[in-house]
Amino acid sequence: MKVAIVVPILVIMQHLLGIRMFCIVVSSWVLSSEGVHAVVNPIGEGRTRTVVEGSSRPLCLANSRRERRKPPPKKGFGSDATAEAPVPVATPIQKRIYSLPGMYDLAFGYRSYEEEVDFLIGQHQRLHNGKAPKRTLELAAGPARHTIAALQSGSIQAGIAVDNSPEMVAYGLETAQMELDIDSFESFTYLKDDMTTFKLSETHSPIDSAWILLGSLQHLTENDQVIACFQSIHRCMSDGGSLIIELPHPRETFSLVECTRNGWEVPLEDENGQESGELKIIWGDDNDDFDPIRQVRQFTVAMEVEGIAASDDLQSVREIVPMRHFTAQEIDALARIGGFKVESMFGALDETISVNDGLEAYRLVCVLQKK
Ligand SMILES: C[S@@+](CC[C@H](N)C(=O)[O-])C[C@H]1O[C@@H](n2cnc3c(N)ncnc32)[C@H](O)[C@@H]1O
Repeated sequence: MKVAIVVPILVIMQHLLGIRMFCIVVSSWVLSSEGVHAVVNPIGEGRTRTVVEGSSRPLCLANSRRERRKPPPKKGFGSDATAEAPVPVATPIQKRIYSLPGMYDLAFGYRSYEEEVDFLIGQHQRLHNGKAPKRTLELAAGPARHTIAALQSGSIQAGIAVDNSPEMVAYGLETAQMELDIDSFESFTYLKDDMTTFKLSETHSPIDSAWILLGSLQHLTENDQVIACFQSIHRCMSDGGSLIIELPHPRETFSLVECTRNGWEVPLEDENGQESGELKIIWGDDNDDFDPIRQVRQFTVAMEVEGIAASDDLQSVREIVPMRHFTAQEIDALARIGGFKVESMFGALDETISVNDGLEAYRLVCVLQKK
């Protein structure tokens, strides 16, 4: 049966990950279980590409059809699921948020991966007299969109992604297979591993630049975990290598006593262009508990399909996720312990936005260098 979903997206989003943001992305996918279809890149501003003939892998929401058949996973989130975490709100099909990579990819596809990769490569070049990194490492990579974009643009020779979610690893590999040519795909490696304990083989090291993006470091709620992560990177990194970390802006850390809701919607259409509902994303809710001693917020995260699409076997998920909020001073101290030095900070993955810009800075982006 031909399964086709066209998904134009208008993402209007404020306060992503506790930060201010306004972003419009127009995108569409034509998905089919049968083979080749024109695809408008969700983040590539209308660039078309072709899906590999015979690929069994549907993109985005269609991905969740397949996941429906898997047994429900244990409660929890990443490596930080703890017995102390509040019990997640029951959903019709209990899934962990990162075990639905297609939905995650759709929800966070508003980013321009090409521009963000330009920034990441550019920051490494600034530290190395214009020399680009040959081999990169993306930790807690999710769909690994940045590594794939870097290989696509030819700015790196090899890209390694690491994530501890088997579903994300499988999804990232399939995405890379679809998006990359044969040579670039051979230069792509996706390892299922923990970002605090991973070790790279000689074939995959040394790496020149490592990236931890979209607040993924927040899953490491204890200092020991962050230090272990930095030390693992340090061990497999070339001398003077760069480590770039993207976090929510610390102003959110200091206003968290009153947690604010961050949400946005992705409108969905069926194959005939008819409205078929929407994907509602909540990334932090008003009543989230925040522990000011541990600096850990019990983040409500939810992706819920509403409307006609909700009856189309598409899943919804809601979970409570412990996420640590960092200050810039902590990153500085933890970096020193892990063998790095903070060289610069920005307010976004954009070198024109100062971290001190009260209006424009919505992230804390730290560029570290191996010492
Ligand atoms: C918010 S997503 C970010 C994904 C990606 N960095 C991006 O920019 O879209 C966080 C990712 O971290 C992964 N993760 C959480 N804890 C981890 C750990 N201890 N080791 C490796 N991956 C982890 C999750 O599986 C998830 O894919």
